[in-house]
Amino acid sequence: MATSEPVQESLMLDYPQPSKPRVLLAASGSVAAIKFESLCRSFSEWADVRAVATKSSLHFVDRSSLPSGIALYTDDDEWSTWKKIGDEVLHIELRKWADILVIAPLSANTLAKIAGGLCDNLLTCIVRAWDYSKPLFVAPAMNTLMWNNPFTERHLQTINQLGIILIPPVTKRLACGDYGNGAMAETSQIYTSVRLACKTQPHGSSRSLVIPVSNHLADSAINLTNC
Ligand SMILES: Cc1cc2nc3c(=O)[nH]c(=O)nc-3n(C[C@H](O)[C@H](O)[C@H](O)COP(=O)(O)O)c2cc1C
Repeated sequence: MATSEPVQESLMLDYPQPSKPRVLLAASGSVAAIKFESLCRSFSEWADVRAVATKSSLHFVDRSSLPSGIALYTDDDEWSTWKKIGDEVLHIELRKWADILVIAPLSANTLAKIAGGLCDNLLTCIVRAWDYSKPLFVAPAMNTLMWNNPFTERHLQTINQLGIILIPPVTKRLACGDYGNGAMAETSQIYTSVRLACKTQPHGSSRSLVIPVSNHLADSAINLTNC
């Protein structure tokens, strides 16, 4: 079972530059989080992976199925690892540790919170504290009417301005039975999108590249520094 026990030790930042990129994978409370385990497996072939799950996503993520080397952090860890001034703050340490953040699935709720600057759990604190010289990808997943809601467009525009890279949802029969757009991109597509974005990027160097984004938004230029 994935464990977050050695938080203090494992988050020390004085180890040498890793040969693999450090990818922080996060799940929020969409039913598509049932695919989180598959996503973790894909990324762990290429990267050092740590995982974050919101409270709602834990209804869908089977913690025991995650690859054994992947620590899964939750809101409980945020508070259990901090006792006094001078202790490490988990959301800051995870943000420093990660070269790349991928939120898949991104729920409508977490999208709205990110766009509004809210930070009331581990995941949204990481995002609020994110260093935008490092790439942050999101793969939304929600019901078609949620996706088509005018708030979604507004929130996507706001996060696009922050430099967050959208991996758009796809059209298919959704878990709720409706047919339409809003299903999370396939896990292989998410993995490929991140890999392609980082492919020609020498580790630790900096360059701009253009990533195609959704039908909602124009292309987005980002600056990748840590892939
Ligand atoms: C069975 C079930 C499935 C859900 N699926 C989705 C979904 O696919 N997308 C979504 O945005 N919200 C979905 N929700 C609603 C979210 O779980 C809810 O908004 C929650 O507050 C999200 O919390 P989080 O963003 O902190 O993870 C679902 C709720 C339930 C009960």
